[in-house]
Amino acid sequence: MIKTLSFEDNAVVILDQSQLPGKVVFERCLTPFEVAQAIKSLKVRGAPLIGVTAAFGMALAAQNFNGANLVEYLNETARMLVSTRPTAVNLLWAVNRMMGIIETNKTIAKEELIHLLANEAMAMYDEDITVNKAIGDNGQELLGRSSNVMTICNAGALATCGYGTALGVIRSANKNNKIEMVWACETRPVLQGSRLTVWELLEDKIPVTLITDNMAGHTMALKQIDAVITGADRIAANGDAANKIGTYSLAVLARHHNIPFYIAAPLSTFDISVSSGQQIPIEERDEEEVRQIDGNYITVSGVKVFNPAFDVTPYQLVTGIITEKGIIKPPFYENIKTKFQEMG
Ligand code: MRU
Repeated sequence: MIKTLSFEDNAVVILDQSQLPGKVVFERCLTPFEVAQAIKSLKVRGAPLIGVTAAFGMALAAQNFNGANLVEYLNETARMLVSTRPTAVNLLWAVNRMMGIIETNKTIAKEELIHLLANEAMAMYDEDITVNKAIGDNGQELLGRSSNVMTICNAGALATCGYGTALGVIRSANKNNKIEMVWACETRPVLQGSRLTVWELLEDKIPVTLITDNMAGHTMALKQIDAVITGADRIAANGDAANKIGTYSLAVLARHHNIPFYIAAPLSTFDISVSSGQQIPIEERDEEEVRQIDGNYITVSGVKVFNPAFDVTPYQLVTGIITEKGIIKPPFYENIKTKFQEMG
């Protein structure tokens, strides 16, 4: 499986996903600013992956710093990294975890702190893969033989440190010969479905059929879809879930067709400090993403555009949330609360 991210020789090395599937290009980010730019420009994307990338960005900042006040510099770096993308809470979670190491080790020698930060980021990297495999194994139980699964965006190995969340479930199910077909929505405007999910699944020889987003309802009506499984960028205390724009439409369509709608996400994607999806900040991106494809205008150049990168699926439309600690079912508010209480 392709490596999306590594930390080597004073550089955060990222797979530039904006060039997939045409080119497999790795980029060495030599400063935390370059790391932030890679996240902002979607070279690195997907909630878990941007979190761990930012954590490596913090470790890199500590290694590069030559000035007098390292802690102040790390605070500034944290703010810069967190401001790149507002919706995925994993970014905030990962940077806060790095800040926790800094807070508790303020007085130790700089070399030691550098070492601790690099170790913490590396631990997050390894944990992410373990967590995704657990999500995959828990989620595959929901699928029977010859399943047809629909998904949107890319919640796969490319969106994480490896294995994936929604695609992790599909991967585990496929190992047990349960996947007949994955129906991948292309995911306008940035095309994470057609560019990334299709590429990733074909690399792993998992059967996939690409549809445009507006074909989802017709496909559900015709093709015996057994489940819709998507990732999430932030899940509120009541189970409302923000994910790639178009997810909400899929959930509405799934309800109409009586198809279970599952979200696969690690517990680090939950933000129980927000009571509902209304409080989740939704990123709006450059209008040109909608007006153009590959630098070519597909509309009148000056047309007004609305380009929200995410939407919120209300908890009432969610059948279950697949996590590394099992599947959370309704009533979501109560069951999410209990899950977090169990974890302390
Ligand atoms: O804008 P992106 O490509 O970062 O959006 C990604 C998604 O919406 C994913 O579904 C989500 O981050 C979960 S990834 C495991």
